[in-house]
Amino acid sequence: MPRQFFVGGNFKMNPATREAKIALAKTLNDATIDQSVEVVIAPPAIYLIPLQEALRKDVKVAAQNCYFKTNGAFTGEISPAMLADSNIPYVILGHSERRTLFHETSQEVAQKTRAALDAGLSVILCVGETLAQREAGETAKVVEEQLEPVIAALKPEDWSKIVVAYEPVWAIGTGKVASPAQAQEAHLNTRSFLSSKISKEIGESTRIIYGGSVSGGNCKELSTQPDIDGFLVGGASLKPEFVNIINSRQ
Ligand code: G3P
Repeated sequence: MPRQFFVGGNFKMNPATREAKIALAKTLNDATIDQSVEVVIAPPAIYLIPLQEALRKDVKVAAQNCYFKTNGAFTGEISPAMLADSNIPYVILGHSERRTLFHETSQEVAQKTRAALDAGLSVILCVGETLAQREAGETAKVVEEQLEPVIAALKPEDWSKIVVAYEPVWAIGTGKVASPAQAQEAHLNTRSFLSSKISKEIGESTRIIYGGSVSGGNCKELSTQPDIDGFLVGGASLKPEFVNIINSRQ
């Protein structure tokens, strides 16, 4: 079964002003984008609603994180229920910056994923290894360990709401993009792992997207790999070349 190509733009804590964000929305609104591609952009939380209101209707928005509780004394946190209540359809969870800078564990990511699905959200679930882990030949082991708690927390039917983002930490923000062969190998391993742990149908149908220094210059070759179903783009999502990345299969 063909998997719909997916391109996400993770703005992270960028750009600095609301006006710049609206300018990005205008660039997207004025662009001709491949209608076969699911496009989701993730601004900082404070801009989610104004950006959703400013954006064309065929581009969705995602939060960059959420908590796993519905409400309560959790200063600074946003609940999945609040995102759903604001008609925000997606949330990114387990991004490597959340894991390294904010010490999120794979167990916490699984808890958040469960809570996001219970609130009716779809999840972009990030996994990926560090350079040291890759050089030690541990890429597959690390990704599998990051997926295990999520697999344990989900029912098979939940996986239709999951997009897995393989983001090698050593490629994020470095300009050192994974080669098509490196990315394809990691995606195939991930797909095989899902097939073995859950079912072949879910392994085959789950979209696995690549993130880590994707650009207008490298997206086309990456997009031709059989197990790369799209991209999660950081820095380049803030630039006009993001449209080229969306249209990389044309
Ligand atoms: O979530 C996507 C992000 O981590 C990739 O960042 O700047 O390497 O495209 P970048």
